[in-house]
Amino acid sequence: MSMMSIRAATPRDRDAIRLVEEHAFGQPVEAGLVDALVASGDVLAELVAEDDGAVVGHILFSRLFVEQDGDRFPAVALAPLAVEPSFHGTGIGGALVREAHIRLKDAGEKLSVVLGDPAYYGRFGYDRSRAALFESDYQGEALQALAWGDAPESGRLVYAPAFGGF
Ligand SMILES: CC(C)(COP(=O)(O)OP(=O)(O)OC[C@H]1O[C@@H](n2cnc3c(N)ncnc32)[C@H](O)[C@@H]1OP(=O)(O)O)[C@@H](O)C(=O)NCCC(=O)NCCS
Repeated sequence: MSMMSIRAATPRDRDAIRLVEEHAFGQPVEAGLVDALVASGDVLAELVAEDDGAVVGHILFSRLFVEQDGDRFPAVALAPLAVEPSFHGTGIGGALVREAHIRLKDAGEKLSVVLGDPAYYGRFGYDRSRAALFESDYQGEALQALAWGDAPESGRLVYAPAFGGF
């Protein structure tokens, strides 16, 4: 029987993470974003899922600021999330999201933002209406937010510079 486990990513996982991202998205863009976020030091939480010692899933959260009236509120951005295609639908994506949320909440984070399918992210508490008032180039139905405490409901979303290149 296979054993799935989740742990923090380490520098030795970089090649395996790149492959999972490329396989999941079918293109190198997201893997490149991951490398750029790591290189710029903007990563807040990065986990991998292992099955029998092989990396089969990956999730990354980077720093995102909500800027309003000269204030800068630190939030987090979930991107990307990837699971090796042959493991889709086995609960790995959900396990990665839930475990990362626990760690981020414990670390005192108050707000997470994601760009993705509401039919998927809604199950983790992400809400389209919670993000509707943010100013963002990504504003639209796919932009959702999840608050764990007091956090702004409006303001401009400023992503890590690495997102600008993608
Ligand atoms: C999205 C992804 C990470 C989900 O990983 P996973 O391990 O298959 O997810 P889980 O097993 O936890 O959840 C599977 C459930 O999510 C649903 N689901 C998966 N992708 C979905 C999507 N894009 N929209 C809606 N539902 C989706 C499945 O139908 C399944 O539903 P069920 O629980 O009712 O059967 C994975 O499909 C993936 O790597 N996709 C390609 C990369 C990608 O799109 N990443 C997200 C970008 S925002």
